[in-house]
Order: sequence, then C-alpha cells, then structure tokens
Amino acid sequence: MNSNTNDIRMEQAEILEPTEQNLRLCAESIKSGEVVGFPTETVYGLGANALNIVAVKKIFEYKGRPLSDPLIVHVTSIDMGKKLIDIDDETHQLFKLLSEKFWPGPLTMVLKANFNIISPILTANTEYIGIRYPKNDIAKKLIDYSEVPIAAPSANKFCHISPVNPFHVYEDFVEFPVKILNGGVSSFRMESTVLKIIHEERKVQILRMGAISPFEIETFLNENNLAYSVEICKKINKNHTMINELNSNSLDEEIKISQESPGQFLKHYSPKLDTFIYDEEEKNKIIYAKDLNYNEIVFLDYNKILYNKCSKLSSDEYFLHLSASNNPEEVMLNLYDFLHKSEKFETAKFIILCDIKKHMHENPHKETLVDRITKAAADRKLKIIF
Ligand code: TXA
Ligand code: MG
Repeated sequence: MNSNTNDIRMEQAEILEPTEQNLRLCAESIKSGEVVGFPTETVYGLGANALNIVAVKKIFEYKGRPLSDPLIVHVTSIDMGKKLIDIDDETHQLFKLLSEKFWPGPLTMVLKANFNIISPILTANTEYIGIRYPKNDIAKKLIDYSEVPIAAPSANKFCHISPVNPFHVYEDFVEFPVKILNGGVSSFRMESTVLKIIHEERKVQILRMGAISPFEIETFLNENNLAYSVEICKKINKNHTMINELNSNSLDEEIKISQESPGQFLKHYSPKLDTFIYDEEEKNKIIYAKDLNYNEIVFLDYNKILYNKCSKLSSDEYFLHLSASNNPEEVMLNLYDFLHKSEKFETAKFIILCDIKKHMHENPHKETLVDRITKAAADRKLKIIF
C-alpha cells in the first residue's frame, strides 16, 4: 500500500529485472493484450501490441490520455517500419536516408499510415503514423520476442513528467497490472525528435523537438543535397477530451484538434507541484520573501542564477543545479530526474525554474530545453520581492 493514507492504491504494477525469462514473460503479456513498461534510450515507454486495438485502448485509459494524441509505434528494422506506412517512391527515398542515418535511435518519423494494418485510433484520426526504431537492447528484445510492433507513449500519466527510470513508471501506474522492465536510467533522458515528412511541399516539419536537434537534421539534409526545408511546428492545444468523456460532439471536436496539432499541449512534462519560471517582470505572479518558509520552494537552477539571487531564502538542499557550469547536455540529463525529485520534497509547495531562455547561451539543444521548461510551468512566471 502507498504510505500516504489519503491516496491508498492497490499495488498491481511490478518491476522486473530484464532476465531472458522475464523478457519472454513480458513478450507473452504483450501478445495477450496486456501493457508493459519498458526502457528505451530516450525515456521509458508504456507499450502494447500495436495491432490489437483493445490493448492500445488500455494505454489511453491507464495514462488518462486524450484520443487526439497519437501513439508512436516501435519497430526493430526499417522493413518492419515500412510495412506500417503507405508512401510514394520519393517520400520513401527520404524515409530511407533518414532511417539509415538516425535508426536505431531517438528519431520518430510521421508518415501516411497503412490502414490495412494500422487502426485510425493509433493515428488519432490524422491519417499519419509515427514510427521509431529504438536503440536499447531490452526494448529491441521485447519487440522481437513479442513478434509485433509495439505502440508506446512515454510511460507517465497524461501531462506528467516523462519517466527516466523504472521507479518513475511504477509510481504513475502502481494501481494497474503493468509489468515494468528495469533497464536502469535512460541514456538520453529526453524524448525522441518527432518529424513529419511532407514531400509535396518539400519540407520536414519538426512536430516535437527532442534528443536530435533541428540543426543535426538540417545538416544531414544539406550534406546529402536533399532540398527539403526544416520547419519547427509551434501550435498548441488548450482543450482535449478523455476517452471516458467521449460523445459524438466531443469526438468531432477531438478529431478537429488532433488534425490541427496532435498532442501539443501547453501544460506537459509537468510536476504535481505548482511550477513557475523565475522572471522579474511586474505582470507576473508575485510572492513576498517575508511570506515564505524556506522549505516551500525547490529551485531548479542553471549556472547558479537563482542561487545568487535567492540563497538567503533557503538552504542549499533546496537548490538543484541543472548545470552549474554552462552545460546544456547536463541540463538535458538532469531535467526530468530533478522535476521528479522536486515532487519528493515533503514541505515544498512550488518549483521555481531558472529562465534558461534568457540565461542559456545559444546551442543546438536550447530550443528543446526551453520548450520543456516552458511546458513544465505551463508558461507561468513568478517574481519574488525581497
Ligand atoms: O522518445 C519517445 O518518443 C518516447 C519513447 C517511449 O519512444 N515516446 C514518446 O511518446 O515520447 P509520447 O506519446 O509521449 O509522445 C509522442 C509525441 C506526442 O506529442 C504525439 O502527439 C506525437 O509524438 N505524435 C505521435 N504520432 C504522431 C502523429 N501521427 N502525428 C503527429 N504527432 C504525432
Ligand atoms: Mg509523452
């Protein structure tokens, strides 16, 4: 049982070591329509047989995920991916080049779905399917032993922080019958980059920034004389409908949302504590230092910017340094783990994040990090008056 008596949940989830026997057991679970948590090189996934729609619906249900948010399907070869899509020869050329360069790895490609195989639910009625070949031995074995492609979003509740170790998955899904394979801490600790190939317009659209930077993709296209422009999509949804709230009106609305900007929400990757970005502007939420207890705020800092300003307010243990030495890769590795850690401070009411948009030097990962920090705080800003 959970130690918090207000939140008693039956423990059903279990963490398993990735032995051959457990991998086979989890593959059997996938085959029989169950849901399995598994590591990938980016973040942990919550997987089910992509060809079994009853199993796929469990993912939406367990996560509390709106149906306008399509699922990525995981494969273990380019050929296996090709069977899931229905594309013309020229699109295929680009798909082939990108997959040979970036697969296995943290790139998801969104292409026209092959509806002989894929259900529209997986695509959120967009006609497009995201596919990815992960670079993680446990993930690869799970897919191979299951003998089916595995649909898997990140293994967190809708809007919550993405999981970078098996315990994060366990905490979000403890009351569900989910076996979780323990692959330790993920190596990138940031989701895959999601890109859509729009061949007719000769463009690739980055739907979600991630572990591979837009710069890397642009460089690859240029080096191979591929005349495609790279566009970063910044549309955001404010509304969504949950699977248990669906009726014919809400379904129409949900289809419209998913076709315009599937899965893009302002609040995302977000902790359970009230989270803000520190910003000095007058229009922001104001807190007076005199009204604060030192243990109410966890600071997620960069280059000691917040520490230099606020260290008198608090003790050192409430400052988590995403990087104290100007290092964007370190921020990427620490961000989700520190957001999870902040939730564990018993007395904390707020998380305050350093405004890296303002304070981080230009680098290929900056836009991705600004995106995640903005969404973790749902773009809310706060100022402390001393
Ligand atoms: O690294 C990752 O991508 C992880 C691991 C488990 O593979 N998966 C993951 O999935 O982050 P998820 O569902 O949490 O995020 C996938 C994102 C969502 O924003 C979704 O809307 C978008 O990719 N996406 C997936 N399929 C799409 C499609 N057909 N059209 C547009 N966007 C799509
Ligand atoms: Mg996610």
